Amino acid sequence: MRHLIDFGDLPREEWDALYARASQIMDRPQDYMDACHGRVCCSLFYEPSTRTNFSFQTAMLRLGGSVFGFADPKSSSVAKGETLKDTIKMVSGYADVVVMRNPMEGAAKAASLYSDVPIINAGDGGHMHPTQTMADLTTITRLHGSVDGLSVGLCGDLKNGRTVHSLIKAMAKFKNVKFFLIAPRDLAIPDYLRQFMKAHDMWNVEVTGLEPVIPQLDVLYMTRIQRERFVDPLEYERNKGIYILSRAKLERAKPSLLVMHPLPRVDEITIDVDDDPRAVYFDQARYGMFARMALLMDLANQERIAPDAVEIGTKPVCHNPRCVTQSELYLPPLVKKNGDVDCCAFCDAPL
Ligand code: CP
Repeated sequence: MRHLIDFGDLPREEWDALYARASQIMDRPQDYMDACHGRVCCSLFYEPSTRTNFSFQTAMLRLGGSVFGFADPKSSSVAKGETLKDTIKMVSGYADVVVMRNPMEGAAKAASLYSDVPIINAGDGGHMHPTQTMADLTTITRLHGSVDGLSVGLCGDLKNGRTVHSLIKAMAKFKNVKFFLIAPRDLAIPDYLRQFMKAHDMWNVEVTGLEPVIPQLDVLYMTRIQRERFVDPLEYERNKGIYILSRAKLERAKPSLLVMHPLPRVDEITIDVDDDPRAVYFDQARYGMFARMALLMDLANQERIAPDAVEIGTKPVCHNPRCVTQSELYLPPLVKKNGDVDCCAFCDAPL
């Protein structure tokens, strides 16, 4: 692995090795205090973050490395109109690894075309969030023993929730996982993921009600309605508060259920759930730091490699208004297959 852009690109054996290392770090952190000694991580957050930004920073510091970057692009020359390509060319000359969150879908893939050092996707718009998936899989494996054979409820904004999209991609690597996709019709999963699940023969059912399916679940993964992704504020108003998990609703759930949430939460889990032993979302955020340590050990210690030259684009072939190719017009017109369908290689939208 050179970059981590989409968890779907990570072979299962590489994930198993990363999980094994994350477990070792949790058990014996003192053995890893110098694992990234002398290495430098650049952290570029074009969108707000608490967990991803801070856990990457603490991960690097705990490995003996150091971190620079921004948490607000207005404090950099991005505010003067610098392109993503130029920013990446610059920081990849200063750092050994780049962690990037950006509001445009496919932005991390775009950055990887121009970087001399590994790029880690810390969230690209409503598209993907692969290191959150590392936190999620670490939590499930650590607390349930295995991911295979689980019934997983994904609840909330499945259209815009990048954590859910990455988790679905990841679950294709495990056996007999059943998905209950719980969302209002306006916020159902994107079509390309429906096609992906079909192509990978993944059992799933789309429902609108949470309570009827709770008793069947081994994992309930709640998500917030992603207000910042709505073009129409009235659509947000119609959907906000639609699913609220309370302690009372958990009465019919399995004793072994894991209640997960990538966080931040708004109102979709009431605080009386926090003290239920099945609520593991704060542990999930901490496991994410160890998973990110395991990843940084691999990627921050790689050789610097100049990327191959890429074609200069003239106009976007992708019509998704949230695709990075709409704002970074020099990007090449890259296409990939999802089953039989031609898709944008940056944001996965069908062409
Ligand atoms: N889960 C997650 O990505 O949280 P932040 O937005 O706070 O990083």
